[in-house]
Amino acid sequence: MTPRVFSEIIALRAALDAARGQNRTVGVVPTMGALHAGHLSLVEEARRRADLVVVTIFVNPTQFGPHEDFAKYPRDLQRDLALLASAEANIVFAPSVKEMYPPGEQTRVRVAELSEGLCGAHRPGHFEGVATIVAKLFNAVGSGVYLFGRKDYQQWRVIERLALDLMFPVTVVGCPVVREPDGLAMSSRNTYLSAAERTVAPRLAAGLAAAKQEYQAGERRVDTLLEAARAVILPATSGGPSLQLEYLELRHSHTLAPLTADGGRLPDEAREEWVLLAAARLGTTRLIDNIEF
Ligand code: PAF
Repeated sequence: MTPRVFSEIIALRAALDAARGQNRTVGVVPTMGALHAGHLSLVEEARRRADLVVVTIFVNPTQFGPHEDFAKYPRDLQRDLALLASAEANIVFAPSVKEMYPPGEQTRVRVAELSEGLCGAHRPGHFEGVATIVAKLFNAVGSGVYLFGRKDYQQWRVIERLALDLMFPVTVVGCPVVREPDGLAMSSRNTYLSAAERTVAPRLAAGLAAAKQEYQAGERRVDTLLEAARAVILPATSGGPSLQLEYLELRHSHTLAPLTADGGRLPDEAREEWVLLAAARLGTTRLIDNIEF
């Protein structure tokens, strides 16, 4: 069944208040549309965790830099609604920019340290835009379990912190990265890739996996792990498109703190505490990915 579509907060709240009045729990999947299997896996998880599934579709202008792809970001509400009907989402909230940023608006939300470095260093203001719109969505949609993809790892950690710090009555869940058969992390931006670029793009994921393999084989030197990834991501080839790394960094998976102690070595005992994060340009497309150790 096609989900009910709302564009105004007041009507959305009335529908959700009625559902909550019948003790129905709410699961929310915030998106910018251009849905793919990664988003649909979040909808599936929301259905497992809640009685009613709300998907928000809003291309948020404040999280794009002045030279980024806001104008060309793919938008196709009818296609998204058809996918969400098959995925059995109940409600879609697709507001206008004016609904989310009323005339005269001047409030922004900033999560300090977690927004610095990594994507924050290369996309100034990006996480302020994300934190602001997600805070607005928490208020507009209300209490429930909110699902985010861990492909946007730093975004997930920023949003977790935001929810805790501002005491929103929500549970934030990070769900596993969904990949194409060749390993490329699914992203709405993959549609920007040319055929030649698309054959090169999976090297990013393959590089991260190569580093993890070394780690699993007992390697603990950070430089060696990073080199294992770089050798795959940036092979010495001639001609054709190539990935240009923006960053490749091993961080503590919860705090995203850089590794400082132990002379560039990870502790010997294996714990699920590290994440290797990368961003790269491929032509005009920016790709991000990560792998947890
Ligand atoms: O990951 C996204 O699609 C967006 O950054 C989000 C969380 C919906 C905020 O606009």
